[in-house]
Amino acid sequence: MHRLAVMGGGSLGLLLAGKLAAAGLPAELWTRTEEQAARIAESGLTLEERDGSVAVRRIEAVPFEEVTPGFDGIVLIALKQTSMDGRLLRTLGRKLGMNAGTVLFQNGIGHVERVSGALPGRRLLAAVTTEAALRSGPSSVRHTGSGETWIGEWEPLSAASDKNGMADLISGVEQALKKAGFSASVSNEIRERMLRKLLINAVVNPLTALWRVPNGELTATPERRLAMDALFRETAGVLRQNGLHGAKDSELWEDVLRVCRATAANRSSMLQDVTAGRETEIDALNGAVCRMAAASGRDAPWNAAVTALVKAIQSPKERGV
Ligand code: PAF
Repeated sequence: MHRLAVMGGGSLGLLLAGKLAAAGLPAELWTRTEEQAARIAESGLTLEERDGSVAVRRIEAVPFEEVTPGFDGIVLIALKQTSMDGRLLRTLGRKLGMNAGTVLFQNGIGHVERVSGALPGRRLLAAVTTEAALRSGPSSVRHTGSGETWIGEWEPLSAASDKNGMADLISGVEQALKKAGFSASVSNEIRERMLRKLLINAVVNPLTALWRVPNGELTATPERRLAMDALFRETAGVLRQNGLHGAKDSELWEDVLRVCRATAANRSSMLQDVTAGRETEIDALNGAVCRMAAASGRDAPWNAAVTALVKAIQSPKERGV
């Protein structure tokens, strides 16, 4: 059995860690702060399941800076893109041994290339999940929505790649997630899955953050639906020029509406960031759409507008300027 580590003590990280621990898997949690690791060491990790049951799970929590170099297990990286700066990636490169496998759970696009550049020679998978969770404190999390998780290789294997090692990593991750109770499957089209998730996030996240509404209220008025539709159409058009090919626009629009219904009472991750005064993922979502549009010589005015508006919500103090 592979050793497992979850990196990141936010909503998704705590959910993954709590459920892996509940399934008796050899998992540890790497936190960004010493305070969070100490709190979890002291009081355990409280996980509220979908059925309302609450259990405290014991899990080893280690501040990331103190992880012993040479970790050769599987790391599920559940940090936001905003946390994955050059310094963190350089430290990660020192912490992981050459046999380590890494699974990237970030929203948006662009992170896989950045991480693979920082971890040369290591096996890397991308993951897309529609699980929803809400962190209610440094050591407690509520599983607010069951979804699907897909894992897959970013690039097709080159002839020189370690096919056996990659197959072992994929099956290790799939089995661990399934044992922890997640609906997990392997995707041969993970980029397509990421682009479809990006489309959902690019519509739901900025609008919920700007209007301060839960996901289910996005469709509540004709005016809101009009703005959603315009942002959707523009984003879908840009993503189609960048590899999104598998589904018709009507199916993609239905995906967006399905997420709004399935997570109706949830506050999107961007709304949570905005209300907590944290930096948002806007640059990795709508900002990335603007960059893709510019690279193909087109404008993306709706994406540019929501990017500017979400950035402007933060006060100068929160933005560190
Ligand atoms: O970022 C989020 O909050 C989620 O990815 C989603 C799907 C928008 C649901 O809240």
